[in-house]
Amino acid sequence: MDRLLISGGARLNGHVPISGAKNAALPILASTLLADSPMRVCNVPHLRDVTTTIELLGRMGVEITVDERMQLEVDPRPIREFAASYELVKTMRASILVLGPMLARYGRADVSLPGGCAIGARPVNLHVAGLQAMGADIVIEDGYIKARADRLHGARLVLDTVTVTGTENLLMAAALARGETLIENAAREPEVVDLADCLMSMGAQIEGAGTDTITVQGVETLSGSRYRVLPDRIETGTYLVAGAVTGGKVRATGTRPDNLDAVLAKLEECGAKITTGEDWIELDMEGRRPAAVNLRTAPYPGFPTDMQAQFTALNAIAEGVGTITETVFENRFMHVLEMQRMGADIKLEGNTAISEGVPSLMAAPVMATDLRASASLVLAGLVAEGDTVIERIYHIDRGYEQIEEKLGQLGAGIRRITG
Ligand code: UD1
Repeated sequence: MDRLLISGGARLNGHVPISGAKNAALPILASTLLADSPMRVCNVPHLRDVTTTIELLGRMGVEITVDERMQLEVDPRPIREFAASYELVKTMRASILVLGPMLARYGRADVSLPGGCAIGARPVNLHVAGLQAMGADIVIEDGYIKARADRLHGARLVLDTVTVTGTENLLMAAALARGETLIENAAREPEVVDLADCLMSMGAQIEGAGTDTITVQGVETLSGSRYRVLPDRIETGTYLVAGAVTGGKVRATGTRPDNLDAVLAKLEECGAKITTGEDWIELDMEGRRPAAVNLRTAPYPGFPTDMQAQFTALNAIAEGVGTITETVFENRFMHVLEMQRMGADIKLEGNTAISEGVPSLMAAPVMATDLRASASLVLAGLVAEGDTVIERIYHIDRGYEQIEEKLGQLGAGIRRITG
């Protein structure tokens, strides 16, 4: 299994190109199931989760061609299987995103329940309840969600928790349902907006994406279009934090500053000088050590839970005491135990991590436990004295394209050890 070897101590400096957003690419690829003609999707990141989605669609019979620039041509017409197996769903929870579109377009879908997940129990009850309110017959049998419907109908759906993929599943289903659907307490994440924009390019009628109430007028058919996935705000934020922890200067290019307000505000609070252009963000620490920050994660436009682990790494080496509270997921602090082994002074109290920053960490062999936790260990490795080896980096390959090359270009001492 691949490992990453990081030799800490380099101050990062330079430009880093940002890839397409994983969390937008996955629902957009699922949405191709709704179309009655081929769809072209560009700026798709080359990631393990994308490969898993391609495999998932491929096993259903969908024809996909990928060119060297990761432009995907997806033809849903040869579909013949309406199932997502446990084997694939267990490796990627987001496989649940095929449920809504398959059911809306083909009237049937058997999707394995995702089961437990390293970052706490992540149920899909709201996906199921929403589809039932739209007229689906759903039974849970042999670990599968088995859904049937002649044609879904519009409904008023009030989500009791803000759920990103739940909103996306219901939005895709509503696009082909008969009549009007209202999704209240909808997720406002930029990736939801990107999916809505993509669906509209296919002929869907949607209003309010990006607010907490989305209105969809169902249409009879959707056709394939050409769509470009938005840049990844979490990848962007991760490289900016890499600049911050090393006292460096990093410019993220091909990104969207307006999707990172909460993250940029915290980076400024920790002492970074931030400048932005239309499609770039530059962070300059001017050689300083960051100051610790206090934050709480929350649904967008709040501070993203997917940036929590990276800021935990920042606080670990920052000046002063910082408090980070995780409100979106339970049990999302596994990285803290690994950082403690590297000399971090962090105490966990329920869903809060309180850290007293230390001037530098010490290298140690550590283990990646989930996607963002592994990113935070890379950041910790960048500021540790000595060589840090990170095991189980398949987690990081799920969400970061060529991380060792991108960090290497910024001057980090990092290399992949294969096998
Ligand atoms: C998505 C993102 C993930 C991010 C998360 C929160 C994708 C592919 N993944 O995950 O990177 O960390 O949003 O921003 O876009 N919940 C329920 N019932 C449900 C659904 C969710 O109770 O039916 C709860 C979850 O347990 C969790 C909260 O809602 O506590 C938010 O989860 P959700 O937004 O659904 O996360 P994902 O969509 O899985």
